[in-house]
Amino acid sequence: MAALQVDQVGMTFALEKGSIKALEGVSLGLASGAFGTIIGPSGCGKSTLLRLVADITQPTSGHITLAGAPPQSARLARRIGFVFQEATLLPWKTVMENVALPLTVARRAPIASRHPQELIELVGLKGFEQALPSQLSGGMQQRVAIARSLVLDPHILLLDEPFGALDDITRQRMNLELLRIWAETGTTALMVTHSLSEAVFMSDKVFVMSPRPGRITAELAIDLPRPRSQAMMKLPAFTDAINMLRDQLFAPDASAELVA
Ligand SMILES: Nc1ncnc2c1ncn2[C@@H]1O[C@H](COP(=O)(O)OP(=O)(O)O)[C@@H](O)[C@H]1O
Ligand SMILES: [Mg+2]
Repeated sequence: MAALQVDQVGMTFALEKGSIKALEGVSLGLASGAFGTIIGPSGCGKSTLLRLVADITQPTSGHITLAGAPPQSARLARRIGFVFQEATLLPWKTVMENVALPLTVARRAPIASRHPQELIELVGLKGFEQALPSQLSGGMQQRVAIARSLVLDPHILLLDEPFGALDDITRQRMNLELLRIWAETGTTALMVTHSLSEAVFMSDKVFVMSPRPGRITAELAIDLPRPRSQAMMKLPAFTDAINMLRDQLFAPDASAELVA
């Protein structure tokens, strides 16, 4: 069964005057344990789509299921991890307290959880348990946010441009780290990015979205072996995939033609 199935999802926001159609007929699927990326122009509805998957908001049409159940079940069971562009840590709490936060705010005992210390080590922050966020670099803060998102052992990890605020070198390093963490945890991941090379480097599947109202205009399977390495970025298969995505993103009429 697919970890994530999005079926003909539409989202229209009602405004004071009129309305804004953010998504239209969005369909996509992600197998359990897969890494998927969404790429598309700004304002095309990528964040909206992640918020719908996380059950933060509900679609105006269509259906979403996580492992066959509505997203609400996964949200209530607290099995959805979410990482935003900004680390959104509590500045007065230590690294350890921030990572453990989802455990302490749980109203009832969580069904599954991972030890905060183990996660701090997994994201490479051993020795920084008692540090405050202000004492960490942007990349390190984002590692804390990733560790926190994993503490309730999510079925799906949603990442909204998680490394968008980082410099290129840190970003590339974080990509490798994220792949290592993803492989170790076995979670399904869906990430939004602006970067074509990041999308290809990370993914089993890349979904290309059209300008608003967002639709999926192409879906590309990336057949590079795993674990991925920097050296693969020089392979023809890597550059071919990037070129294919670029053509699709900048196609004059990004119609619903699917690239398998
Ligand atoms: N809560 C909201 N109310 C009204 N409009 C919204 C809301 N959230 C997003 N939008 C609009 O929906 C469109 C898609 O936004 P978003 O999902 O943030 O795009 P992206 O993440 O691809 O840049 C934008 O035009 C945005 O202004
Ligand atoms: Mg966004």
